[in-house]
Amino acid sequence: MTEKEAILKRHSVRSYEDRRIDEETQNLIRQKISELNTAGDLNLQFIEDAGKTYNKMLNKAMGLASAPSVIACVGKDSDDLDERVGYYGEKLVLYLTQLGLNTCWAGTFNRKNIGASVADDERLVISIAVGYGKDQGKPHKSKTAEQVTAGKTDRPEWFNNGVEMALLAPTAVNQQKFTITLNEDDSVDFSSNGGFYSSVDIGIVKYHFEIGAER
Ligand SMILES: Cc1cc2nc3c(=O)[nH]c(=O)nc-3n(C[C@H](O)[C@H](O)[C@H](O)COP(=O)(O)O)c2cc1C
Repeated sequence: MTEKEAILKRHSVRSYEDRRIDEETQNLIRQKISELNTAGDLNLQFIEDAGKTYNKMLNKAMGLASAPSVIACVGKDSDDLDERVGYYGEKLVLYLTQLGLNTCWAGTFNRKNIGASVADDERLVISIAVGYGKDQGKPHKSKTAEQVTAGKTDRPEWFNNGVEMALLAPTAVNQQKFTITLNEDDSVDFSSNGGFYSSVDIGIVKYHFEIGAER
């Protein structure tokens, strides 16, 4: 499965089978996380037993409490930490999809119960639930390309392909509050129009765009 195929297949899943992730797959996950942590200067952590990470009322209502494992997204605190977590975390989400697992980014979770190690100069940004889904989720309602783009109107195919993949990105409460601008010199800018976890969203959207645009 290519990353593009993983983008097409991925939907948030909130209902999981009562089954642990097998050892071999866990090793692959840990190896990938180690690569991403080096590349993104992060401290993403695979926590095999999600325990009571999703014991909040809202999580229970959404079904997330059934997730067997979780990724704690941690990194040294800095202005761009949230965006880097989005970018490298989504790389991980697509890899997990390629491994046949299901995921759900979750900003609502129990920060104590997750059991992450967070040093004094670090911050726990968000969680990603992971496991074998009872279902594969479903496509989200999406804005149109027109609603999320700006700039030059004569648009090359690579730009349109990038936007198409960006519109398939998960965003907090499916807000899709981002604008992708094509400048006269064909450079691209990403901006957030605010909202819950919007910097994480931007990182995720950037990675999807790159895959679509192949640049
Ligand atoms: C930064 C971020 C935070 C999210 N937080 C939650 C959450 O707390 N609970 C939840 O059930 N889903 C959460 N989601 C999942 C979104 O609701 C979901 O991505 C969106 O509705 C689009 O659906 P899709 O992922 O199936 O394409 C979050 C997603 C992102 C990107």
